[in-house]
Parts: sequence; C-alpha cells; structure tokens
Amino acid sequence: MASALDRAYNIEDLREVARKRLPRGLFEFVDRGAEDEVSLRGNREAMHRIAFRSRVLADTSTRSLETTLFGRSQSCPLIVAPTGAVGLMWYDGEVEAARAAASLGIPYTLSTASIAPLEDVAARAGGDLWFQLYVWPDLSLSEEIILRAKAAGYRVLILTADAAVPSNREYNRRNAFTVPIRFNSRNMFDVLRHPGWIASVMLKHLINGGVPEFANLPQAYRSNLRGKGSTRLMPPNAPITPEVMRRCRALWDGPLLVKGLLSPEDARLAADCGMDGVIVSNHGGRTLDGAMAPIEALPAVVDAVGHRLAVLVDSGFRRGADVAKALALGAQAVLLGRAPLWGTAVAGEAGARHALSLIRSELDRVMGQVGAATIADLNRSLLTLRGTSLAASLEAAQSRRPD
Ligand SMILES: Cc1cc2nc3c(=O)[nH]c(=O)nc-3n(C[C@H](O)[C@H](O)[C@H](O)COP(=O)(O)O)c2cc1C
Repeated sequence: MASALDRAYNIEDLREVARKRLPRGLFEFVDRGAEDEVSLRGNREAMHRIAFRSRVLADTSTRSLETTLFGRSQSCPLIVAPTGAVGLMWYDGEVEAARAAASLGIPYTLSTASIAPLEDVAARAGGDLWFQLYVWPDLSLSEEIILRAKAAGYRVLILTADAAVPSNREYNRRNAFTVPIRFNSRNMFDVLRHPGWIASVMLKHLINGGVPEFANLPQAYRSNLRGKGSTRLMPPNAPITPEVMRRCRALWDGPLLVKGLLSPEDARLAADCGMDGVIVSNHGGRTLDGAMAPIEALPAVVDAVGHRLAVLVDSGFRRGADVAKALALGAQAVLLGRAPLWGTAVAGEAGARHALSLIRSELDRVMGQVGAATIADLNRSLLTLRGTSLAASLEAAQSRRPD
C-alpha cells in the first residue's frame, strides 16, 4: 500500500484511491452530503471565494505551526473531527487513526458512533483524545457515557448540536446503506466487487468478534449492523438546549465544546451556558442542505464570542490554504473530517498520517508564502474576497469620471 500513498500528492488523490477500495455504499456514505448537496459544494466554493493578499517582504524561512489549545500545546492547529463508523473503512480504524494523530502531535476526536469501544481506543491509541457525544432523549444514558469518557481519560468533550433532526441522505437509502444494513442485489454486487475490502475489513470483524456494531451505545440502543438483537435501530438524538449544556457542564470539568453552530447568537448562548469553545460547522454538508458555509459564518462568531471562548471550525477543509484562511479569520484550530478518513480507508494509520501530514505541510508552505512565520501572524489583513478589490477600484474610477 506504500506505493498508493507515495502517489497520493493531495487529499483528492487519497479520495480517488478510497473510491476504488471501498464498496460504493460506504464510499458515498462518507463522501456525499444531504439532499441536493448545496451545502457540500458551498463549503468548497466559499473557500475559493477567499483570496490571499500576501505580504512577501519578510523573512519567513523559519516558521512555527505550534499552537496551544485548552492548555496543551500541539504541533499545529489541526484536530481530527469525530466521524462515525471508521472501523468500517479499515479494521480497527479508530485506533489506527488516533495513533496517526498522536504521532503528529494533534488531538483525535472519537465519535459516539465508533465501532471500537471508547475504552479500547483510550487504552491502545495514546495521544490527546477528545470525545464527541450525541445526546439522547433519556439524558441519564448520556450522562453514563460522559462518565465513561471521563474515566477512560478523554480530555475534551464535544456536544454535537446540528444532528438532532435526522438528515435526508437519499443515496444511503438508494444504496441500502442503512442501519441495520439490508442486503439486496445492488449492494451485494457492490460488496462482492471489492474483495480487498471484504478480506481486510469485514472478514477480520467476523473472525474477531462478529458483525461490527456501534459499541458505545447504551445496551438499550445496541444493535449490530445487521440489526440482530436490537430493540430499536439507531437511537434518536436530542437537541442541545441550554438545560442540556448546563447539565453536561456540571458533569464534565474538562474543556466542553458545542459543535455545529453557525450563528453568533447561538455562540453567545453557548458561552452563557459555560462552554469553553464552539465549533462552527455544518457537519460537512451532511445535515441541513442550504446551510451557509462555516468559513463564511466564522468571522461573525469570532467577533461575538472570541474573547470569551475558543472558536474552532470545520467543513470543507481539504488544503492547507483553506486552513490558513480560517486561522486568518480568527479560528483557533480547524477540524478535519473526510481528509483523514480517506487516508484511513486507504492505509489505516499510515494513510491517516499521510493525509494529516499533507495538510500540515501545505499549511506550512502557505504561511511562508503569505508572510506568516507563526500562527499568530495570520490575520484578516492577509485576505480579500476574490474580485472585490478590482470591483472597488473600478467603481471608484467610475465615480471620478465626469459625466
Ligand atoms: C462519514 C462521516 C461521519 C461523521 N460522523 C460524525 C459523528 O459521528 N459525530 C459528529 O459530530 N460529526 C460527524 N461527522 C461530521 C464531522 O465531524 C465534521 O463536522 C465534518 O466531516 C467536517 O467536514 P469535512 O468532512 O468536509 O472535513 C461525520 C462526517 C463524516 C464525513
């Protein structure tokens, strides 16, 4: 697999290798967005609308990407975002991806919807581990998992707020990629066309413990992916209200974040409820279709609450240049979802490390090119909206012209 990684010069290359390796149902589960994918595309389009106004008359040959988040220093302002079912991309995928993050000196966030139990990942992966929680209507079940995460040594807790209403992902239903998985001629044929994935992922699960399941779910919600023994399919998520934030705050003395906000009003509310940070996110375009791009929502959130708590961002980050733009707009760090997931799907730990290293080295290069020797040197004066400077000059020229 080393050669596939050697030939992957960017995240898009990794995505293409993953497309070949994974059954289509699984690939699309990761790759696609809700409904017409307006949010998904918008996340990338928004990045491209921002341009650098670089400063080159400076020596940036010595650069540092180091940053400190919630009292701990890390090699660069990147974090692996929580993504469910990583163990279906690669056998033991959560542990491998977490080890990759640890080896690069950045945090890894385990999703509630992981295949590996949270205790197992904590015991075997090492590094700075964060935990993401989907809150359930029976809050006592959520409180149990918070205590489990605390006991296992997770440092930061993230409450995801933008998935309380189930999203409409039609491709999952078309591919019969649902929980429980229902096999039909289409998805059976799809899986059989990927013998490498069957051998390296599914067979290993079957030999080592049976059909994979969402191991963190409370017993009442437990089901393996064939739905055997389930009392219900997937637990519904509850909304993150001020009451929920306050109850979680009382249980968790470490850094506590809310993920999935776009508005400064929500960010203020989160600060009022004692949160330590917010993650500006539209879930990578997977929940509300037509949601604004988080990179565009970011400046208003930073201006509203940046002095009270940490503002992080995700959704649509594929290049170091995208990360540099978010940092220049005031984000303290960027979470990466699909990028490390493609790496994991291609080559487990080595693949995830490759994906993260690509973005880190791109960020390093861009910082040098725009005139920033440190993360703190990135600021809004380095950015402009594509076309706006030209439009302003032309308009000024028009207004000076005599009639
Ligand atoms: C396959 C997949 C599964 C995800 N699962 C979760 C999850 O369990 N919890 C959560 O808070 N976010 C989840 N997300 C959203 C990510 O945490 C993150 O917000 C998003 O992927 C960022 O966008 P990006 O993929 O463009 O980097 C998931 C995203 C993907 C692609």
